[in-house]
Amino acid sequence: MDFDILTIFPDFFVSPLQEGIVRRAQADGKIRVRVHNLRDFAVDRHRMTDDRPFGGGEGMVMKPEPLAACVQAARRHEGESRVILLSPKGKQFRQAAAERLAEYDQLLFVCGRYEGVDERFCDRYVDEELSIGDYVLTGGELAALVVLDAVCRLLPGVLGCGDSVTNESFSCGLLKHKQYTRPRIFEELPVPEVLLSGDHAAIARHRFVESVQLTLDRRPDLLATVEFSPGEQKILRQ
Ligand code: ADE
Repeated sequence: MDFDILTIFPDFFVSPLQEGIVRRAQADGKIRVRVHNLRDFAVDRHRMTDDRPFGGGEGMVMKPEPLAACVQAARRHEGESRVILLSPKGKQFRQAAAERLAEYDQLLFVCGRYEGVDERFCDRYVDEELSIGDYVLTGGELAALVVLDAVCRLLPGVLGCGDSVTNESFSCGLLKHKQYTRPRIFEELPVPEVLLSGDHAAIARHRFVESVQLTLDRRPDLLATVEFSPGEQKILRQ
């Protein structure tokens, strides 16, 4: 998959893209990431990418021409591409959206800045607007990295272990169970006995109950949409 990032702060992306799984995915040719400096697409001699809002008001608005020129230059002609504006006004980004976006051949992330982006660019070029949460960041750059990371790890062959994405928080609508590793006792705190028992069915039951309890405690909103199988309902009644 191709990821294209449109930003006025290209240096923002230098180090985060050179770490961990995202770095390896690029090295293995699973993804390609290109960062485009919007300033290179500015049309006036001052290379301005923003201007004062018509109608007055605070702050600056991102001009439509550099954004449009950059999308036109970056968008691939073959395959399915999606232009995504990152902004606090967008729809909330969730795991289901990451799964949906993982099906495209190219994602173009437009990193909004200042007080917003000229609406005519949005109307003509943007396929969807996403927010990563109910808070305001200084720009869409961190949000673009969040979405890129969440999509990248879902692509075939990106994670080492085949089932790593099937048994994790949100994949089945529940938060993931607690995890432990060595030592068996840490500062007088033991690992739950059942995890040392070797009884895989008992371990699976324990983890399932823990997932439900954790979700009930921290994210009861998620439980509303989970459908438990008859077997799971029986475990929960015990
Ligand atoms: N830009 C500023 N705040 C944002 C948010 N919460 N999500 C996505 N982009 C943003």
